[in-house]
Formats: sequence, C-alpha cells, structure tokens
Amino acid sequence: ATGDSTILTETRGRVRLITLNRPKALNAINAQLTRELIAAASAADADPGIGCIVITGSAKAFAAGADIKEMQSATYAEMYAGDRFADWERFTALRIPIVAAVAGFALGGGCELAMMCDLILAADTAQFGQPEIKLGVMPGIGGSQRLTRFVGKAKAMEMCLTGRMMDAAEAERAGLVSRVVPADGLVEEAMRVAETIAGMSKPIAMMTKEAVNRAYETTLTEGVRFERRVFHAMFATQDQKEGMAAFVEKRAAKFTHG
Ligand code: CAA
Repeated sequence: ATGDSTILTETRGRVRLITLNRPKALNAINAQLTRELIAAASAADADPGIGCIVITGSAKAFAAGADIKEMQSATYAEMYAGDRFADWERFTALRIPIVAAVAGFALGGGCELAMMCDLILAADTAQFGQPEIKLGVMPGIGGSQRLTRFVGKAKAMEMCLTGRMMDAAEAERAGLVSRVVPADGLVEEAMRVAETIAGMSKPIAMMTKEAVNRAYETTLTEGVRFERRVFHAMFATQDQKEGMAAFVEKRAAKFTHG
C-alpha cells in the first residue's frame, strides 16, 4: 500500500472500532479506503476475540460519498471491466455484527456504507442523503435498493430524485436509524451497544444477523422456515446449553463462542 492508511483501528475488549480517516476529503470512499476497510472488517470477522465492529467517521462527516475525483474521468469500459463497487459484496457477506455510528454527512456512498452495516446509531448532527443525481449519476453501492427497503418508496424516491438530505430526527422516524444520541456521546454509546452484542455468543449473533437479513432476501414463509432451521441448529452449540443453564441457575451466562 502506498501513502498513509485511510482508516484507524482500535480494539476495546471484544469490540473493534474502525474510524474512517480521510479528513481532508470528508472520508470520501476511494479505492484504498474500500480495500482497507473491507480488509479490516474481514479480519475482525475472522478473529475469535472480536464479537462486534463499530464503524465511525468524524464529527463533520461519516463519509461524503464515493470519491468523485477518483471516478470523474472513468469510462464506461473501465467502470464495467473493474466492476466498480462489486467488492462491497464481500463486506455485506461478513457475518459479524457491524454498527455504524454516524455523525455529520452520510451522503452517497457514505449513506450506502451506513446502510450496509447492521444497525445505524445517529448523532443529532447526522445528515443522510443520496445526492448522486446532482452529479449526473445515481446511487451505485445499493442506495436505490436499501434506502427503498428501509424508508419506503416515497422518501427514497424523493431523496434519490432531488438529492434532499434527511436529518437525524427524520431518519429515526423513517426507520433508517435505530436511535439518535447527542453528538458528543455518539461513539461511546455505539461502543456500549457493540459491547452488549460482543458479550453474546459470537456464532449465535452471526446466525441471528443472517436470519434478520433473510427478511430482505426472501418470502415470509421461506424466511420463517430458515429461522426455524437455524433455531434448531443452535441446539448443537455449547452456548445454547450455557445460556439456558445460566438462566435456570439464576447466574450470568459465560459464553465460550462455541
Ligand atoms: N469525493 C471527493 N472529494 C470530496 C467528496 C467526495 N464525495 N466530498 C467532499 N470532498 C472534498 C471536497 O472536494 C473538498 O476538497 P478540497 O478541500 O480539496 O476542495 C473537501 O472534501 C471538503 O469538502 P467541501 O469543501 O465541499 O466541504 P463543505 O463543508 O463545503 O461541504 C458537503 C460538505 C456538502 C458534504 C460537500 O462536500 C459535498 O456535497 N460533497 C459531495 C457529496 C456527494 O455528492 N456525494 C456522492 C458522491 S457519488 C457516490 O457516492 C456514488 C455512489 O453511490 C457510489
């Protein structure tokens, strides 16, 4: 890799905190950031000592989009041959729970990155938008699909066609974010949520993420069947035995992630 890293990583207990770090470009997502972020998230997914990831940006911007300057002069053939943005399928295939802690701008690819995480915690300063249409393009990392599923057609259509931003309160009302918290406590609150998740059994949390995501991929009947099969499979884990024994014995569970 050339140049400085575009992300900072830190481990607190069983949580890996990844901070996007291209402050001069408002964390615009270029090829290097894409590569480094996906590598860091994949490493955390594979690390048995890590049970949850938090991804955050700066106070001003979670991420202001895909890097416009990097794409500006690309040709169709280059975008197609390089299958630009297809790498993100490796990110969405990760099984470890991922929390997005969003303050400031989450625009274009930044909004799409937040939506590819499993839940979004927003600072009261957060602004979500898909302003690509103003650049003569449209969302390219899932925005037209995920935003529509998360907030419904009317709001998604308005945001994608006009580029209007949604503030944190509207994003919470619309169901895009799980909660809004004061900006100065955002990362701490996201770490608390992540610590709670990381305190659960990792394989069970992974299966739970997979089951919730199935709701977006299939019919209700198939999804409920998938859930039931995976629920049955959980009885092959030690953590199910431990979790239920701990309840019956009125003590805290000690999960071994097996
Ligand atoms: N790509 C590249 N550079 C970006 C960028 C982006 N998406 N967003 C901001 N920057 C750069 C600016 O060019 C500027 O750099 P210079 O100092 O070298 O001029 C620096 O970050 C600071 O930005 P501003 O001076 O514009 O800051 P501001 O406070 O005046 O405005 C903003 C903030 C409203 C977020 C504005 O930066 C903005 O509109 N950014 C672009 C938002 C956007 O269109 N995002 C969609 C990108 S396309 C995309 O994401 C496609 C997809 O779906 C995959």
